[in-house]
Amino acid sequence: MTPVSPSFSRIFSRTTLTSLALVGLALLTGCERPPVDTVQRGYRGTGMELVYNPRTQAELIPANQPPPSTPPAPAEGPKAKDIYKNVQVLGDLSIAEFNRHMASITQWVSPAQGCNYCHIGENFADDSKYTKVVARRMIQMTQHVNADWKAHVAETGVTCYTCHRGNPVPENIWFTAAPQDKKSNFIGDLAGQNLAAKTVGLTSLPYDPFTPYLKDALPIRVNGTTALPTGNRSSTKQAEFTYGLMVHMTQSLGVNCTYCHNTNSFSNWEGAPPQRVTAWHGIRMARDLNTQYMEPLTKTFPAERLGPTGDVAKANCATCHNGAYKPLYGAAMAKDYAGLVGAAKPPPLPAPLAEAQRSVLYFGVGSATLEGEQAKGLAQLITAMAAAPRSKVAISGYHSAAGDLAQNQELAKQRAFSVRDALLAAGIQEARVVLSKPVQAEANLAGEDPAARRVEAKLQ
Ligand code: HEC
Ligand code: HEC
Ligand code: HEC
Ligand code: HEC
Repeated sequence: MTPVSPSFSRIFSRTTLTSLALVGLALLTGCERPPVDTVQRGYRGTGMELVYNPRTQAELIPANQPPPSTPPAPAEGPKAKDIYKNVQVLGDLSIAEFNRHMASITQWVSPAQGCNYCHIGENFADDSKYTKVVARRMIQMTQHVNADWKAHVAETGVTCYTCHRGNPVPENIWFTAAPQDKKSNFIGDLAGQNLAAKTVGLTSLPYDPFTPYLKDALPIRVNGTTALPTGNRSSTKQAEFTYGLMVHMTQSLGVNCTYCHNTNSFSNWEGAPPQRVTAWHGIRMARDLNTQYMEPLTKTFPAERLGPTGDVAKANCATCHNGAYKPLYGAAMAKDYAGLVGAAKPPPLPAPLAEAQRSVLYFGVGSATLEGEQAKGLAQLITAMAAAPRSKVAISGYHSAAGDLAQNQELAKQRAFSVRDALLAAGIQEARVVLSKPVQAEANLAGEDPAARRVEAKLQ
């Protein structure tokens, strides 16, 4: 505290001074005890400084260490799906690798409860515990993050431990806040704020900035893009929600605003550090996990696990980050778990051949549906058929030489049917469509060949 000037002490009695000093002390406890450190993150004079407290950092480091990992088991030998009865996601792992995954999942999610947190006695195939059903979906969610959200998690990826840290219920989760009980107060509408909530760093900003941004997709903006308020939702209220989310992001990562912004203009992307782009993807990823994985599980959870409005627990930045700028300070655990890094995306299909006399359309593995671009490959053929009303079209379905012959032939037939149906839907009469027998494509020794999964349609 600054020393009190002599004239000041003459006016106040000793007791008043003591109590003032106490008030001062009380106020100071809200601040961080010095010394704090700063790191320069931009050109000098631009205010691009990160302020941090070495003591807070010292506590965070041991709290964000990865657990010891066991070495990967051999990938050879019978697969889990060949031996076990009810393996729907991890079936392609070898038995040894599957068991290692189960042991690690137990260590990450339910170390105190053990295997029986998800399983019943000796019948590991039984699905009657909700925890097992949730866990299966969680495995898929983890695969999805690692395979499809590289724009955020890069090669570091996540495992169950990133969120769970040895707890069945992760420490940092959120629920939609219960609506304000307006009967019992005279203040009026609090607009979801003025409660000094922990979620927004004990400020009086809106205490649930998650529902609008990490579940719904409202714009995260403080400035409108139009001069007049026409259609402009960027009200003061929205600005408060935006700042609420920003405070949450800052706290979850243990950083300042300058980690992602050049504070001379918060909305400007050009001057902002690259971390802002990573964060932008992080917001979309959290929203995706909450709406595509967590919310559909609502009915699977027992009522006591649900929030005040009956919603399921959801993830925010703190669920994974837990105070660190990268979860577990960037320790890459996921790469050691084949079952969690996710199936590689299948290669894209070749472009369809679209000519007036001949169309060739390609299909995904095991699929008989004309997807995306492929459906458009028939347009020129249809035009040519309309111009020559007596022409006919011959359709042949091809299948690969690998696998079960009867199954392959059936699939080739179904693929030919989809092409026929597309022609009929375009107004071609059924009598003009001739279906040929399924054809086995030339064997491809190099492995799976997308060109084998095709249907050819020729004008006759
Ligand atoms: C957090 C939940 C969870 C824990 C804890 C857990 N498992 Fe599992 N277990 C699962 C899920 C989910 C599946 C199904 C995986 C799939 O469908 O791919 C499964 C499947 C199995 C199966 C295959 C059963 C069959 O016949 O279909 C075995 C065996 C198994 N677990 C063993 C274990 C052992 C041993 C432990 C303790 C070391 C353990 N699990 C701990 C969730 C869990
Ligand atoms: C992005 C963070 C995240 C990841 C990664 C994650 N979980 Fe979860 N998990 C959650 C959230 C959030 C809940 C909901 C909390 C609750 O149970 O109310 C949850 C709940 C669960 C539950 C139910 C616990 C209970 O008692 O209600 C199980 C079991 C579970 N997870 C297993 C797993 C397994 C196994 C993995 C890894 C394959 C995993 N989780 C990965 C966030 C995550
Ligand atoms: C981890 C990165 C990160 C941190 C830390 C962060 N922000 Fe942001 N901020 C973003 C991203 C990303 C957006 C854009 C969000 C979007 O458009 O979806 C944004 C948007 C904003 C906007 C809206 C700009 C506009 O166009 O209207 C303001 C204002 C803002 N942040 C202020 C802050 C303040 C104040 C802090 C510190 C309390 C802060 N931010 C901390 C990443 C961050
Ligand atoms: C599913 C877990 C998960 C969630 C949820 C998550 N992150 Fe991340 N985040 C990660 C991982 C893993 C990395 C490390 C990526 C790497 O090594 O480059 C990361 C990295 C980052 C980085 C880059 C740090 C740097 O210095 O390069 C920023 C910024 C970030 N996250 C912001 C956010 C924000 C903001 C949210 C919430 C809107 C969020 N994250 C939610 C897992 C998560």
